[in-house]
Amino acid sequence: MLIALIVILTGGYNVAASERHNPIVGWALNTTFVNSVQRHGDEVSAPELTRAMVDAGASPYKAMCQHCHGGVGASRAEWAQGMRPIPPALANAAEQWSAPEVFWLVKHGVKMTGMPAFGATHDDQTIWNIAAFVQALPEMSEAQYAAYSSDHGSGDGAEGHRHAPGTAPHGG
Ligand code: HEC
Repeated sequence: MLIALIVILTGGYNVAASERHNPIVGWALNTTFVNSVQRHGDEVSAPELTRAMVDAGASPYKAMCQHCHGGVGASRAEWAQGMRPIPPALANAAEQWSAPEVFWLVKHGVKMTGMPAFGATHDDQTIWNIAAFVQALPEMSEAQYAAYSSDHGSGDGAEGHRHAPGTAPHGG
């Protein structure tokens, strides 16, 4: 505790994002993060995820998540490489995170990482659609992923690409 206080007060810890966290700090942050998400995800009750939700989640995912997390065969934006932690690729995130956990993560964000909270700007229905889309990524081919439109307005792209009620275009 005393050592922590000295480090905090003296500026001895390098917060530069160009440097990796020291392994102990990295472990502490990551373990705190994983345990927190799992605990809070347990408290969320999920609706049944449908194909329509997956389809409706595609364009918000491409508009709001892809530049940091990439997609199936799509890389993250160049600037996201400079973040610490680097936002992990989500193509296989469903193997680690359940839908309620993804929902909770997206709604509340992750402190001190750059992972934004979308709950203030997006309703639960939109966030469940995004969670459904993330759950579908491991099964998705590059071609299927690419066929989804990133534009809320146009209905082109994958077959049966529809927007569920309540996911009206919001331009962001
Ligand atoms: C500005 C960049 C940024 C944006 C935009 C962003 N994220 Fe993140 N996200 C992060 C970072 C950084 C982490 C890593 C947090 C950590 O490891 O502590 C993260 C972590 C996650 C995780 C946990 C992944 C893992 O394996 O640890 C999920 C799931 C996730 N984000 C989903 C999303 C979704 C879905 C969206 C879009 C609605 C999104 N994020 C938008 C930066 C971003």
